[in-house]
Amino acid sequence: MESFSTLIRTASREQHEEVRGSTFMSDLLGHKLGVDAFARYTEQLWFVYGALESGAARLAADPVAGPFVRPELFRMASLEQDLEYLRGPGWRSGISALPATLEYAERITECARAWPAGYIAHHYTRYLGDLSGGQIIRDTAEKAWGFTKKGDGVRFYVFEQIPNPAAFKRSYCALLDAVPGDELERQRAVAECKRAYALNNAVFQALGAEFPLSA
Ligand code: HEM
Repeated sequence: MESFSTLIRTASREQHEEVRGSTFMSDLLGHKLGVDAFARYTEQLWFVYGALESGAARLAADPVAGPFVRPELFRMASLEQDLEYLRGPGWRSGISALPATLEYAERITECARAWPAGYIAHHYTRYLGDLSGGQIIRDTAEKAWGFTKKGDGVRFYVFEQIPNPAAFKRSYCALLDAVPGDELERQRAVAECKRAYALNNAVFQALGAEFPLSA
């Protein structure tokens, strides 16, 4: 039987290409958007990681999802530093979640409450992505808007406590491969990962509508 890490990666490849090629991401990576669009995206991440990381607190002792609760991944503190830099000291009262973001965060919370393997699917989709393609986004943001390398504005993309991302990803895949569950449960988790990508895509669509390129 194929390992779970291979299964989830290969089964979601198409969805990955879709988010990667979304108009908002392409425009962002193509240096076509202003820093305000990047800040607005960072705001949305704050709501998503709020759900992921309060779910983590709830699941720390869970036999299935507990091993995935790794403090070196936590992003909320970095996101808050970035938002303070991007939006200023009053950032908390000025930020808002798009409806698509609320839907995404609610689904994460629902999984964290009732379905640990579903929570893992969301955990994988975000954190492994941040450790991979996230680095490309950081590099682009530093160049496009002049942020200090790995500094304020892009701290979300910097995993200070993970000096060797490749080794970390290997150990993460080993954790995925050790998730208990029969074939049906594996397939349900894969479907949840595809849903996670679709939820990300919906956020990108909404951001794309908010930041259209002028003709
Ligand atoms: C334009 C943006 C993106 C680029 C350029 C990109 C690029 C990449 C690359 C090159 C990898 C492979 C890294 C490796 O083999 O070690 C990767 C992996 C991954 N990406 Fe992305 N990505 C982007 C956006 C996203 C988004 C928005 C998500 C999810 C919301 C995501 C989720 C993932 C995941 C989960 C993996 C790990 C796959 C695995 O090894 O199992 N990516 N990405």
